[in-house]
Amino acid sequence: MTSWHPGERRSDSSSMLRVDQAGEYGATRIYAGQLAVLRRNCPEAKLTARMAAQEQRHLDRFNRLMSDRRVRPTALQPLWNVAGFALGAATALMSEKAALACTDAIETEIDKHYGKQLAELGEDDPELARDIADFRADELEHRDVARDAGAMNALGYPLLTAAIRAGCRMAIELSKRI
Ligand SMILES: [Fe+2]
Ligand SMILES: [Fe+2]
Repeated sequence: MTSWHPGERRSDSSSMLRVDQAGEYGATRIYAGQLAVLRRNCPEAKLTARMAAQEQRHLDRFNRLMSDRRVRPTALQPLWNVAGFALGAATALMSEKAALACTDAIETEIDKHYGKQLAELGEDDPELARDIADFRADELEHRDVARDAGAMNALGYPLLTAAIRAGCRMAIELSKRI
């Protein structure tokens, strides 16, 4: 057990920033994979394009913070590049509703993840906490957009979302460590 010294940050905001940047990067790759497959201008593609633009804003912000703070990105970035795109493309190939179910699953986990981080941060690092709270509101909106558009009507929704959520949790744990 390590003792805490005054002035020291109890929460490790560098590692938080690393995992969050990885997650936002992964999100841009998932949506890119979906948009590569979805029929242009179908309702799902329009919703997805809008969410993808918001993910890009989240990613740009975390990239900026990382370079300001000299935090290195996760070494798994090349993996999230491929795995994110593959997940997006695969779900969109299943169906439009499956693509939405993927968003539903991912954003459910990200909401929990950001909520945990905010609790852990407390009064530490208000700059990062502000961004996390801001982005968390967007992620929740994405989840609701996906549900309102029929995510739950996807074939095999319970199994599909459980699998994606488990994968998302694994990606979070790996990005914290590597
Ligand atoms: Fe995001
Ligand atoms: Fe999102």
